[in-house]
Amino acid sequence: MNILLTGIDGYVGWPTALKLAQELPEARIIGVDNLGRRKWVEESGSVTAIPIETMPVRLAAAREHGFTNISFIEGDLADRDFVNQLFDVYRFEVVLRVAAQPSAPYAQINGERANYTQFNNNQSTRNLLWAIKDRGLEKDCHFIETTTTGVYGAPEFEIPEGFVTAVNKGQEDVIPFPGMAGSWYHMSKSNDVNNLWLANRQWKLSITDLRTSIVYGTETHETQLDPRLATRFDFDFYFGVVINRFCAMVLTGYPITIYGKGEQRKPQISLEDCVQSCVNAVRLPLSGEFKVYNQTTEIISIVDIAEAIVSGARKLDIAAETKHIENPRVESEEHKMEMAVANFQTLLPNPKLNIAEGAYRMLEALKPYRETIEQYKDRFMSV
Ligand SMILES: NC(=O)c1ccc[n+]([C@@H]2O[C@H](COP(=O)([O-])OP(=O)(O)OC[C@H]3O[C@@H](n4cnc5c(N)ncnc54)[C@H](O)[C@@H]3O)[C@@H](O)[C@H]2O)c1
Repeated sequence: MNILLTGIDGYVGWPTALKLAQELPEARIIGVDNLGRRKWVEESGSVTAIPIETMPVRLAAAREHGFTNISFIEGDLADRDFVNQLFDVYRFEVVLRVAAQPSAPYAQINGERANYTQFNNNQSTRNLLWAIKDRGLEKDCHFIETTTTGVYGAPEFEIPEGFVTAVNKGQEDVIPFPGMAGSWYHMSKSNDVNNLWLANRQWKLSITDLRTSIVYGTETHETQLDPRLATRFDFDFYFGVVINRFCAMVLTGYPITIYGKGEQRKPQISLEDCVQSCVNAVRLPLSGEFKVYNQTTEIISIVDIAEAIVSGARKLDIAAETKHIENPRVESEEHKMEMAVANFQTLLPNPKLNIAEGAYRMLEALKPYRETIEQYKDRFMSV
């Protein structure tokens, strides 16, 4: 089986490559990345707290550990010629789309970044979809994309797993429910959802839409095998997600900084569980359907996250405190999010990690990199 793994150099992409190699040794994993994430974080004046190797060094280390079926091609998926060349050389049975510009705050900086984010994310999706269609592979290729639970926004009802039954003047139909994204990045994913759904309706392309939650964590089983296999860990305002940033703050004695009341509940998943469910999705048979999975293991308020981290810190004798500041985001600070996850529970019946345990483990794993975080702690907040 040939698997195209896009975004292999990223936070989720690299550990996914390793777990795919571990669980599907007979598959060939062709990883693609334009190394954009490295540049965006640098441009934001920050660094990954946990050092990461270049792709050639990562691949050499992976080979030493028996992962011999991963290769890497540097290229830009928004470039249609590049994508076409890729599909002329390889016949892919699976496309696992983990590549994107994934930061809402980065996309919100100005019109140029918003434009770039939507162009990058949506053009790449269309290029991949049409490369499949133009080669007549639509019945033989499984397209998996990590979109985001952020496409749903914050509705005042339980978020369904992809679709709702709409009633209009007494008549009803089932329609996709992605349309309330709250940032230019999240809207790029809503656009992707629409295009994916269209590709399925027009061509019967099998599509698995993993609506990824906020991913936290420092490592997976495979990245722990060798420091050269580490994945990146960002903690800055633009690329650090909430739990990761809070853990980094605690390690430098910086108060855990909560936007507004912090009572809004947000969906979360550990890196280990996120990566495992991506690998499980690769094993799904071709369905000819558009299937949505809310890739979530916990929905928790920001203040409860902060509490879990403070208690993890206490176990490690690290002093930690919290502070509330004015919310720089446009969001409800009290939204009691509920979300259906029945489909996802069939994909990942036994998640390995929860936030209470995860926070403690992250703080332990990050302790050796305190100095780096300290050096860049002015990046915690926007400037
Ligand atoms: N990390 C999260 O909390 C989170 C939450 C929800 C959804 N997601 C989604 O999960 C996926 C992975 O996120 P991540 O956190 O690993 O992000 P990441 O930025 O670390 O990884 C994405 C990778 O894609 C690459 N890339 C981007 N555009 C590209 C292009 N045009 N051509 C080639 N490579 C390109 C980047 O260089 C990067 O290495 C993304 O689709 C993201 O939108 C992530």
